[in-house]
Amino acid sequence: MSHSVVTGGAGFIGSAIVRALLAEGEPRVTVIDNLLSGKESNLDEVRDRVDLHVVDIRNYDAVAPLVKGAARVFHLAAIPSVPKSILDPIPSHDVNINGTFEVLRACADGKVGRVVYAASSSAYGDTEVLPKTEAMTPNPLSPYAAQKLMGEYYASVFTSCFGLETVALRYFNVYGPRQDPTSPYSGVISIFMKCLLEKSSPTLYGDGNQTRDFTYVEDVAELCLKASRAPGVSGRMCNAGNGNRYTLNEVWETLQRIEGVSIAANYGPPRAGDVRDSQADTTAAVALLGHAPRFSLEEGLRRTLAWYRG
Ligand code: UD1
Repeated sequence: MSHSVVTGGAGFIGSAIVRALLAEGEPRVTVIDNLLSGKESNLDEVRDRVDLHVVDIRNYDAVAPLVKGAARVFHLAAIPSVPKSILDPIPSHDVNINGTFEVLRACADGKVGRVVYAASSSAYGDTEVLPKTEAMTPNPLSPYAAQKLMGEYYASVFTSCFGLETVALRYFNVYGPRQDPTSPYSGVISIFMKCLLEKSSPTLYGDGNQTRDFTYVEDVAELCLKASRAPGVSGRMCNAGNGNRYTLNEVWETLQRIEGVSIAANYGPPRAGDVRDSQADTTAAVALLGHAPRFSLEEGLRRTLAWYRG
C-alpha cells in the first residue's frame, strides 16, 4: 500500500488537502475524522474518491490499520481555538497532545513514509521582532499554543528516536471557503464573512490593530503537499504563512469596500491569550519546500466571500 491519509480530513483545512491530493492524481484518499468539528459535507465534491473513517485519533487500535503502509499522513485532527483552550483546557490537551502522540506512534509502527504535522504560529507568542523566524525561542501564551508546540516536539522526537520522517508546518491564520463561522471560537475572517452578508457589525477584541498573517487555505494545502515530498527536510519545522500582516481593522475595511457597504465595527475588551502581531518569515519554506503562495489577501477574501454567498 502507498496511500495518503488526512486526519481531520473533513475539516476546513484538511478537506482542502484532500482535494489537492486528488487533483494531484491520487486515485483515492483515506480520511480519519471524528466529525466533532469536521463535516462530511466539506468533502461533497470528492466524496466518491474518499474513504472516510469516523475515528477518534486517541484510539490507537482504530488508527493503526488505517495508516499502516501509507506513503504520507497529513495530521490535522485537533481541537483548535486559543480561547476555547483557555475556557476548557482538558479536551484540547487530550486530543492535541495525546491524540497526536497516538497518530505518530501508529505511523512509526506502520512504517509510514512521512508525516506532515499541522503546527501553529501561536507557538511564537508575542515577539519583539517581526517577521517571526523558525529560530526564535517559542513563547506559547495559551494551552492551545503549548499543545501545538508539544506536537512539534513529539514529531521531531519520533524522527530522531524512531526513524519516522516528519515535517511540521506552523500555520498562520488560515482562512477561506468552508471555514465554519457559527461558533464564538470561529476564525475571525469567517465571522467577518457572516457579519458582512448579514449586514451586522463584528466585534473586534481590543483596538482592532492587532495584526495577522492571513493565509489562504489553498496556499496552505499546496505547501503541505510540497512538504510531503521535499527531500532532506525530515525532522524540521517551517512557517506556513503568506509573509504579510494586516490589522483586523484593515481586513474589515477591505471587506466593506469589496461589498460596497459601510458597517461600523464594535469594539470589546482584548481577548485572553491573544497574540498582538503575527507575520511569517517565509524564507525557509521557500528555500526548503518551494513555497510559493499565490493568493493576495484581497483575492483570497473575494474568493472566500463568493463561496459564503453561494
Ligand atoms: C490562533 C493562531 C493560529 C491558529 C488558530 C487556531 C496566532 C497568531 N494564530 O489564531 O495559527 O490556527 O489560533 O484557532 O496565535 N477576533 C476578533 N473578533 C472575533 C474573533 C476574533 O476581534 O469575533 C480577533 C482575536 O482576538 C484575534 C484575531 O481576531 O486577535 C484572530 O483571532 P482568531 O481568528 O480566533 O485566530 P488566532 O487566535 O489569532
